[in-house]
Amino acid sequence: MNIAILGGTGPQGQGLALRFARAGVQVTIGSRDAVRAAEVAAVLNDTWRDVIARPIRGTDNVAAANAAERFVLLAVPMTAHDDTLRTIAASLPGKILIDVVVPLASGNPCAVRMPPEGSATEAAQALLGDTIPVVGALHNVSARVLNDLTHRINCDVLIAGNSLQAKTEVMPLLRRLEVEVYDAGPAQSARCIEAITPILIHLNMSKHVPFTHAGIRVWAPGT
Ligand SMILES: NC(=O)c1ccc[n+]([C@@H]2O[C@H](COP(=O)([O-])OP(=O)(O)OC[C@H]3O[C@@H](n4cnc5c(N)ncnc54)[C@H](OP(=O)(O)O)[C@@H]3O)[C@@H](O)[C@H]2O)c1
Repeated sequence: MNIAILGGTGPQGQGLALRFARAGVQVTIGSRDAVRAAEVAAVLNDTWRDVIARPIRGTDNVAAANAAERFVLLAVPMTAHDDTLRTIAASLPGKILIDVVVPLASGNPCAVRMPPEGSATEAAQALLGDTIPVVGALHNVSARVLNDLTHRINCDVLIAGNSLQAKTEVMPLLRRLEVEVYDAGPAQSARCIEAITPILIHLNMSKHVPFTHAGIRVWAPGT
């Protein structure tokens, strides 16, 4: 399986690339600059050569999206969300977009500024149209956690999207990260999932709690 991570040169994309590559998934990270993506991929492959099962590749965002068989992850800042999608939209028919973007307020990571559509996930679905399914996911997982391969991911993953078929395909992919994945409902649910991220950031920054980089966990009875 070959997946693309657009904006994969950033901390969130790199952490996801590492975790998927360790799980045996062929990852291509995308960037606005193919050379930068190749350089980042080379550093990751060199640093983690003992644990990565399949070397990470790096190229520009369009080529990365073209290389993906079925799943394209979007991990750019909200300010670049719509423009990046327009750039790669022609590469997406037949694929599923997994939107990781949190619409954080400019200059304040403890607040959100949701787009008119309601959430980044809904904005992506509106921009791409109904024939390209969008699944929002991984919003509450810290990049620091993802990049620390000495520990398991410390939280669950809530996903949201309007296509049950797409969510059914995305869940086993995400479970390769060794996390529990829960279907939180239609794309509209992403409003809550994305918006809780700044609350986590606020808690994690607080001097009144003895932790950083905590996440969300669904605590089922008896577990
Ligand atoms: N960091 C976290 O802990 C975390 C946790 C959960 C969710 N997220 C979400 O994941 C996404 C990525 O997070 P991040 O911390 O990795 O972000 P980032 O470092 O700010 O950006 C990721 C990549 O996006 C590209 N990019 C930046 N500005 C751009 C622009 N104006 N136009 C096009 N591309 C641009 C850059 O790649 P190139 O320059 O190589 O193109 C950059 O390396 C964000 O939406 C964030 O809300 C992050």
